Amino acid sequence: MKINFLDLKAQYLSIKDEIDAAIQNVINNTAFALGPFVKSFEENFSTAHKAKYCIGVNSGTSALHLAMWALGIDKDDEVIVPANTFFATPEAVSLCGAKPVFVDCEPTYFNINPQNIEKAITNSTKAIIAVHLYGHPAQLDEIKAIAEKNNVLLIEDCAQAHLAEYKGSPVGTFGVCGCFSFYPGKNLGAYGEGGAIITNDKELYTKMIALRDHGSSQKYYHDYIGHNYRMEGIQGAILNVKLKHLSEWTKSRRKNADLYRKYLADHKDVVVPLEMSGARHVYHLFVVKVTKRNELIKYLQDNEIYSGIHYPIPCHLQKAYAFLHQQKGTFPISEKMADEIISLPMYAELTEKEIQFVCHKIRGFNK
Ligand SMILES: Cc1ncc(COP(=O)(O)O)c(C=O)c1O
Repeated sequence: MKINFLDLKAQYLSIKDEIDAAIQNVINNTAFALGPFVKSFEENFSTAHKAKYCIGVNSGTSALHLAMWALGIDKDDEVIVPANTFFATPEAVSLCGAKPVFVDCEPTYFNINPQNIEKAITNSTKAIIAVHLYGHPAQLDEIKAIAEKNNVLLIEDCAQAHLAEYKGSPVGTFGVCGCFSFYPGKNLGAYGEGGAIITNDKELYTKMIALRDHGSSQKYYHDYIGHNYRMEGIQGAILNVKLKHLSEWTKSRRKNADLYRKYLADHKDVVVPLEMSGARHVYHLFVVKVTKRNELIKYLQDNEIYSGIHYPIPCHLQKAYAFLHQQKGTFPISEKMADEIISLPMYAELTEKEIQFVCHKIRGFNK
């Protein structure tokens, strides 16, 4: 039995008629950049996350950059980010000209460790980015309290956490704004690139609306030097269709996570992910810790089971950040994780039989 890491085709086939009609509708209306389909998606997405405003953009990286840019984060500023995240989180800080200040994660849920944040705050700190990595909410109460005490902004990187909840509320508005990615493989994925920012702050929203579209709020009148971060109409229409199914898909991901935990229970060499009390994990990725990680990946591949590593090198050790001179050993938990984690196949359409098969093969490894 061949098991892909992700199966976007299966999802498309399950909603083919709706998607095809939505794309045709955009073409019939020639509403290709921003326009009514993006606007309608923005309204529905902000409602789903209980936010007042939403701005559709052309990627999650643009969302993070646009938010920090509009918040005035600049070259003499520092922004605290987890060492274990996708590269785009610190990259967006660097795009503002500011310095990403890395901190280690905690060992259970793999998110930024609030205890390490306070030590990293200096007079130059402008913001903390809490990444809800793999779909598991970060410790928002603690992080928010630190941000408020030190008068710094809290920004949420929700790229992997659509509809994740912390203490009963959707992620994205615990700080000043929440940034999402709709990269195709995300829990809510476009058919191309996409991203969004949600916020309850009207002033920030107005500034971001202008910066997204060449610094203008009225066509051909430019108040700022901005950029072209506009969302495409086709992506807005597709995301609107998919958003209607997201709750069901999220339930399936959560059910699949329970099945993995059931079939891997008591395995002495596999540590399965847990959920923090009060957190609703949306399992963008199902990341387990194993011994002999690279051998396991090869063995699974030989059995036509495809997995991933998220991420093999923590951000502080990436070549691009060599100029920050951070040595190996600086963030031991993130570094150890990078050597031990493996992301197992995870998507709504996975069947119990397939999960059982993956777990059966894992149990056969090393025997
Ligand atoms: C945590 C995190 N932040 C930011 C991004 C950037 O999003 P995009 O790829 O849409 O630019 C991603 C996407 O992979 C991500 O996983």
